[in-house]
Amino acid sequence: MKAARKQGKMESIGFIGAGNMAEALMRGLIAAKVAHSTAITAYDVKQERLTSVVKSMGINAAAGAAEVFAKADTIILAVKPQQAKEALRGISADSSKMVISILAGVRLAALEKLLPEARIVRVMPNLACIVRKMAAGFSLGKRCTGDDADSVKRILASSGIALEVREEQLDAVTGLSGSGPAFVAYIAKAMIAAGIEQGLTIKAAEELTLQTLIGTAELLRKKEMKPEELIKMVSSPNGTTVAGLSIMEDSDVEDIIKETIAAATRRSVELGKKE
Ligand SMILES: NC(=O)c1ccc[n+]([C@@H]2O[C@H](COP(=O)([O-])OP(=O)(O)OC[C@H]3O[C@@H](n4cnc5c(N)ncnc54)[C@H](OP(=O)(O)O)[C@@H]3O)[C@@H](O)[C@H]2O)c1
Repeated sequence: MKAARKQGKMESIGFIGAGNMAEALMRGLIAAKVAHSTAITAYDVKQERLTSVVKSMGINAAAGAAEVFAKADTIILAVKPQQAKEALRGISADSSKMVISILAGVRLAALEKLLPEARIVRVMPNLACIVRKMAAGFSLGKRCTGDDADSVKRILASSGIALEVREEQLDAVTGLSGSGPAFVAYIAKAMIAAGIEQGLTIKAAEELTLQTLIGTAELLRKKEMKPEELIKMVSSPNGTTVAGLSIMEDSDVEDIIKETIAAATRRSVELGKKE
């Protein structure tokens, strides 16, 4: 892959499992021109599913995981966590192969045991990869080389952002950004309901809520503002924002959010121990 990059060629990437997350990552790779569709090879036990992604994106179908490993130097493992052993049964991959696992809770050590020579990377993606706004964390396994972090970032950047973290921090990544879309959606649901209660139509409440979430995130990112600064900017003395914020501040919202993310992180630790 390194050589391919130096020559300005696109990557050849394989997928074991062609479900929802795999499809989103494939679409990102193709849209960002990191890999041409003809340089992507996938295998899925569900023939119908495989045929559907192959037809819709013009990628190659493989008859099994071994064919994916033969055709690609970078292989994305995208089956369910409990399907990993079966998916990699009988595969022997040397150190020229980099395997990027997106399996929640399956540790590097376990994957390195299943593939004793390949370079393994563990990623915690999130559902926003479907719209190429993924927030992911990744950790390199012990056999990875110096260039691997750049390769992984390049591949994952086609679907959003990916930050390198220590493997033990992947549980916190899971709690914050892995589960995060559900927490933000929960807040969105409450805001929509509140807007309707205050007299808006469902459509107006939905549109205004979503645009407020998007606009706030963009303001924070593009203007490089801290949340506290933004809060101060919107809050005029005795104004509407101050009236609303006083309720939030008196209701321990911050503690509840901290507890929510702590609970998700703890569960990730527990699930990791079971694998
Ligand atoms: N969805 C999320 O928000 C999210 C977030 C972070 C991480 N992840 C991780 O992403 C991974 C994929 O999730 P997903 O939602 O994309 O799952 P999915 O839609 O169920 O995709 C997995 C696909 O792999 C197939 N498969 C099963 N065994 C296989 C084998 N031996 N060889 C090849 N293919 C096989 C499955 O077929 P069957 O259906 O017949 O089993 C299914 O089509 C999971 O490990 C999950 O932990 C997901």
